[in-house]
Amino acid sequence: MVSRRALVFGVILVLALIAAACGDPRPITHMQAPTPIPPKAEPTATLNPTLEAVQTAAETSPQATGKSAEALPVPAQRPSAKAGASVFAKNCVVCHGEDGKGVIPDTPDMTAPDLFRNAAPAELFLSVSKGKGAMPPWESSLKEEERWNAVFYALDFAVTEDALKRGKDIFTTNCVVCHGEDGKGIVEGTPDFTSPEFVATTRLVDLFKSVSEGKGTMPPWKGQLSESDRWDVLTYIRTLGYESMHGMK
Ligand code: HEC
Ligand code: HEC
Repeated sequence: MVSRRALVFGVILVLALIAAACGDPRPITHMQAPTPIPPKAEPTATLNPTLEAVQTAAETSPQATGKSAEALPVPAQRPSAKAGASVFAKNCVVCHGEDGKGVIPDTPDMTAPDLFRNAAPAELFLSVSKGKGAMPPWESSLKEEERWNAVFYALDFAVTEDALKRGKDIFTTNCVVCHGEDGKGIVEGTPDFTSPEFVATTRLVDLFKSVSEGKGTMPPWKGQLSESDRWDVLTYIRTLGYESMHGMK
């Protein structure tokens, strides 16, 4: 440590001399004192060798870089697919169909897992509010709460009772010890799965990666749980954040 600090002083002195030689008029005494080198952090125990790579990837993901996470809106209250049912029936079925499969070209099949897994609900809320492709904007004709509820009603098409049942069992067996029965979190650092912010701004595809590879002090689950088990438990976790049409809580 001491020799390292001496080295830093030496380097700064040489730089100062060079600066002086180059005719820098500032006196040396005005130079900033060298900042002490912080002690090196102890390397934390690594649960598995790929964890570091995952964390690095997570740091550069759009969420972590704040590209979308900061801009994404959050509902003021817990969203409700149940409350969204009537909004959807009145305004959306003409193009999306009562079954959510879509009746006009380009509409996504909402019973398929794609939107549910790949999009943050807040991103869909923005599409619905501002319009997208052939879909008109709804922000002037529907209240914010109605738009949130309609989006969660749309997402709820991809949820099946079977997946929820399996997901709840997996959650109870493997996850409640740290995340709690209610999903609000017991262990330090665990997110609150029931918070409007979590349910609106996270993408299941990102959470799938965290669950599979591990994150922070959470161990990886891909060795213990099959891919479909991991999706089922995430489906269950997602429904903790809104009032689903499917009565599994
Ligand atoms: C006039 C037809 C029409 C109506 C009415 C309509 N949509 Fe859409 N919607 C579309 C089309 C077309 C797309 C596909 C847009 C695209 O990807 O180009 C779409 C896409 C979506 C998406 C996916 C957005 C995304 O970012 O991928 C959601 C969610 C959605 N609609 C929800 C709703 C809700 C909720 C309502 C009622 C409030 C509604 N839509 C009313 C035509 C409509
Ligand atoms: C040993 C405690 C522990 C167990 C058991 C555990 N988790 Fe976690 N989990 C955590 C912690 C801690 C975090 C926060 C990690 C962080 O952000 O650094 C977390 C985060 C998460 C996240 C958010 C990930 C993200 O990208 O933000 C999800 C989803 C999750 N856990 C699901 C599960 C599921 C599903 C199970 C059971 C199969 C499970 N966890 C079991 C401790 C645990």
